[in-house]
This record gives sequence, structure tokens and C-alpha cells, in this order.
Amino acid sequence: MSPTTTTPGTSEPTSAPEIRKGLNGVIADVSAISKVNPETNSLLYRGYPVPQLAATQPFEAVAHLLWSGELPSADELTALEERFHAHRTLDPAVKQALDSLPVTCHPMDSVRTAVSVLGARDPEAEDSSPAAERAKAERLTTQLPAVIAYEQRRRRADGPTQPIPPRDELDHAENFLWMTFGEVPAPEVADAFRVSLILYAEHSFNASTFTARVITSTLADLHSAVTGAIGALKGPLHGGANEAVMHTFDEIGIRPDESAEEAKERARVWMEDALAQKKKVMGFGHRVYKNGDSRVPTMKQALEAMIAHTGREELLGLYDGLEQAMEEAKGIKPNLDYPAGPAYHLMGFDAPLFTPLFIAARVTGWTAHVMEQRAANALIRPLSAYNGVEERQVPGA
Ligand SMILES: CC(C)(COP(=O)(O)OP(=O)(O)OC[C@H]1O[C@@H](n2cnc3c(N)ncnc32)[C@H](O)[C@@H]1OP(=O)(O)O)[C@@H](O)C(=O)NCCC(=O)NCCS
Repeated sequence: MSPTTTTPGTSEPTSAPEIRKGLNGVIADVSAISKVNPETNSLLYRGYPVPQLAATQPFEAVAHLLWSGELPSADELTALEERFHAHRTLDPAVKQALDSLPVTCHPMDSVRTAVSVLGARDPEAEDSSPAAERAKAERLTTQLPAVIAYEQRRRRADGPTQPIPPRDELDHAENFLWMTFGEVPAPEVADAFRVSLILYAEHSFNASTFTARVITSTLADLHSAVTGAIGALKGPLHGGANEAVMHTFDEIGIRPDESAEEAKERARVWMEDALAQKKKVMGFGHRVYKNGDSRVPTMKQALEAMIAHTGREELLGLYDGLEQAMEEAKGIKPNLDYPAGPAYHLMGFDAPLFTPLFIAARVTGWTAHVMEQRAANALIRPLSAYNGVEERQVPGA
């Protein structure tokens, strides 16, 4: 809807400025962190194709790449891992804050609260020098798995419980799963998780990253930017979609004894019915990619590896049935949240924890953008075209 096609109270047309609802198609700034190319269906982090990074790199190396612009040398990677290890244990003050929240609140609220607490307690909270920003980005990236793992455990325990201490011989992805489930993950599981973290790490000016940049542009601190970004990520049109995908699967009904073909048929019927009711089905469509999300093939491969590992072929049936029915009816393709949802389910996470997992990855991209915004800052403050009532007088004034 155009905001100023007529002046309220008159039929007089006014000159309407061009409004791009949702900033659709607006280029807001330059960025050297990632390049999303919908024409070639490709995504680059600092120039490197993301599927190549997912095939070869640990998550820690991709974090270093996003922050610094280059992949780490072997020595730099070792040094980064050591710094990560120093902050893996759940801060008792954060545990106390989490324990004060009801287990009925959404875990995104818990993680958002935890980031606020971590910010308030960070020794460099108000230091926005490049060195301090980088140190805070590293700390937060390595503190978040402890928070999310504990939040999953607290919910399963229906209240305060004991966190699982980290293990130094495990890498970031393995240790995250260890601290959540208390088991060293099978290589297939750890690898699928590592891939998901790399794919979720960065995606240019999406809603949460833009939120982080807006907050940074006011010269607020890094933890404030991340806290705001978490709020933006929570919504089902953004990060909340990976949780919503699982609710769709649940609504259709997950029947582990069913064949893939039977599951596929039920999923097709569900999708036809949903589209007939004009429902938006989460996990499909994208603002930028109109011919498929560049990250889906890599995540689908990781999901298939999980399915082969667990023998849960019926989930692939549900996946294919929904995808094919959507393609035939509307030509809309899945986004990254679509394969990520069932993959996280097979790893053992509860659906409400899926979007917090997205935070654990995207915190690297957010903080890279915080640093980039701060290095060449301009306050982000667009204009609006007023379409309310004309000036009038308060009775009796
Ligand atoms: C991501 C999303 C917000 C992009 O939206 P957008 O670029 O603003 O596109 P629109 O929402 O205007 O959709 C354009 C058309 O496709 C349809 N469409 C888009 N995504 C759809 C979906 N997931 N299910 C059903 N229809 C969808 C819309 O209904 C609309 O149809 P219409 O023109 O007949 O009204 C949108 O695709 C969506 O809501 N997807 C579901 C949420 C999701 O998975 N988000 C994660 C994104 S990574």
C-alpha cells in the first residue's frame, strides 16, 4: 500500500515518494563480508564459495575468516581454539539468570537474556576498539554453546540442573553436542552439525544482521547489537522458520515405522491442503533467492547423511513430499531452514532450540558486521512518509 496516495480527509492526490516496503531491493551500504548472488545461486564468505568451506573447514576457521577476512594459518587456528577453550564453561551468573526464567518461556528469550547478562559482565563491555570487539566476538561465540546446551538440558529436566563441563579434546561443534547431550557425537552427527553452523554463519544484510548494524550505528556496544539481532531472528519469517518447519512435520505426523513413499504421499496431501487454504509454509521462499537457496544442497546432503546414520527414511519422504508439492503448485523452493529443521531433530534437539542454534552460528556474521559498521560508521536513520491526519488543534488549547 502506498503511504501518501491521497491526503486523509480529501480526495486530493499528493506526490507520493517511492517507498520500497520492507526495503525490498534497497542497497543500504557496501559490505566485504559475504556476497549473495541469486543469479548464479552462489554464496561467498570473503570470496570463498561456502560449499567449499563447508567441505573442508572447521567452524572455528570460518569464524576467523568472517572476522579477519582470511582463513587462519595452522598456528592462528590453534591459538583461536585455545582462546575458545578458555570460555566454554557456563558462567555461574548466567546459569543463575537462566534458572530464574520459567521453562515455559521461549528459549530465544532465554538466550537473549543470557547475552544481556554476558554483556553486562564483560570486562570490555564499553570498549569498542577493534581489538576489544574481536575479543568480545570470540568470547560470545564460545560462550553461547554453553548457554544453549544448558537451556536444552534445563527444559528436559523441567528446571535447574547441572551443566555438563566442556572437554578440551573436542572441537567447537563436537563440544557443543557433548555439553548438550553428555555423549561424544558420532562423526556423522558432528559433521552435519558443523556444516549447519558454517551455512548459518553469515548472509549479508538479512533482518537480524541489519538490526545489529542499526544498533551499532548509534555507537552502542557489541552485546546490545547482538541482543537486538536475536530479537529480529526470533520471528518465523526469519530464523524462527527452522523451528516452524519441525512443527509442520509434527502436524503431518512423524511415523518412524512408515515407508518413505507413504510419508511422501501424506506430506503431498498436507501441502495441497495448506496451499488451498492460502497458508504460508515455513521453510519455503526467500527474499533474495527466487530460484533456490544456495545453501540448501549442502544442508540437504548433511541431512541425508543424518538419515543414513539414523535409518529414518520416513523423514526424507516427508521432506520430498512437501518440496515436490510446493514446487508443482507454486514453483517456490526451500530455504536453508527446511533441511536444517529435520537435521537438528535427528541430532536430538527439541524444536524450540533450533533457532538458538542459528544464533550460535550467526553470532559470527553479526559480530563481523558490527566491526565493519563501526569501522566506517554512519548513523542509520531513514525517513518515513507521513500518512496520518493533518495538523489539528487539541480541544481547549
Ligand atoms: C521469506 C519470505 C518472507 C520472503 O518473502 P517476500 O520476498 O517478501 O515474498 P512474499 O512473502 O511477498 O511472497 C511472494 C509470493 O509467494 C508466496 N509465498 C512466498 N513464500 C511462501 C511460502 N513459504 N508458502 C506459501 N507461499 C509463499 C506468497 O504468498 C506470495 O504469493 P502471492 O504473490 O500470491 O501473494 C517468504 O517467502 C516467507 O514468508 N517464507 C516463509 C518463512 C521462511 O521460511 N522464512 C525463512 C527465510 S530464510
